[in-house]
Amino acid sequence: MAIERLVEPTAAPGDTEEERIEISLRPVTFDEYIGQEHLKNNIRLAIDAVKKRNDGSTLDHVLLYGPPGLGKTTMAGVIAHELGASLRVTSGPAIERAGDLASILTNLKDGDVLFIDEIHRLRRAVEEVLYSAMEDYKLDIVIGKGPGARSVRLDLPKFTVIGATTRTGSLAGPLRDRFGIIHRLEYYRESEIEQIINRTAGILKTEIKPDATELLATRSRLTPRIANRIFKRVRDYADVNGDGIIDTAVAKNALELMEIDYLGLDPADRNMLKLMYENYGERPVGLTTIAALTGDEATTIEDFYEPYLLQMGLLARTPKGRVVTEKGKKHLQKIKNKV
Ligand code: ADE
Repeated sequence: MAIERLVEPTAAPGDTEEERIEISLRPVTFDEYIGQEHLKNNIRLAIDAVKKRNDGSTLDHVLLYGPPGLGKTTMAGVIAHELGASLRVTSGPAIERAGDLASILTNLKDGDVLFIDEIHRLRRAVEEVLYSAMEDYKLDIVIGKGPGARSVRLDLPKFTVIGATTRTGSLAGPLRDRFGIIHRLEYYRESEIEQIINRTAGILKTEIKPDATELLATRSRLTPRIANRIFKRVRDYADVNGDGIIDTAVAKNALELMEIDYLGLDPADRNMLKLMYENYGERPVGLTTIAALTGDEATTIEDFYEPYLLQMGLLARTPKGRVVTEKGKKHLQKIKNKV
């Protein structure tokens, strides 16, 4: 059985209070968006150029990739806002048929931004329709079946696709080639996570002491979505067990309750490292074997567990599989008796 995780870096599902808060915390402009300076500078320039030309051209299609929770969807919202454009949001798995995509595309207006999350999960047939739509704003559709079938070309409005993916490797070459701007979102610096936590505290009208902000930032896996989730849980703890103010003692107790250790690892991360080490020591282990050990899907391991463990140097990838590093081994020994 896979362990349910607080640090699950996917967006909160459905129309919940959790999701409402998550949306209220999202920055709307480049100035509000903390971190990813390189990406911001590049896209800001491209947007300024489009605005300056003012000749009816639109922003090049943008592909954002990188681990989950780093703000790809948020960035798409900011880009649309800065362009003064409407944003339409969909995802690879949500577009089941070419016809679904056709209906989305024909409902767009000039200048609109179409955000496609998990774009690597688009079906082949859908992807092919998207190629020509992105390339020359034409929609090729086949009407009818059999010998009577005929193909028609429809003009589409000039729109910008922002695609998001956790893995560029699984994106078909021709699709990747349609993006003029391709950027990787990086893990945030701890100082940036601190700024994000302070911003969140301000929006949620909660007082947090600087030492507590610092502590939470070290446990947030350099990921804003996780920082905000942890912050909300710590705020709950402060409200229930104290006067609502988050100081170091409150933060420490709440983190202990969540079983998040000093590197930001949760029980599921530790469990995976431990299983790998106990069963294979320092020898490489294949992805499917790790998945069998933890009871997760291989893609979950690859997308959700691994990136941060690699970033922290606790795990390494070798041609023969994944290995627990010396640092990973030391961490397991260190946290054996305490979180
Ligand atoms: N909330 C979540 N991500 C953020 C970011 N990058 N900047 C500001 N607030 C955020």
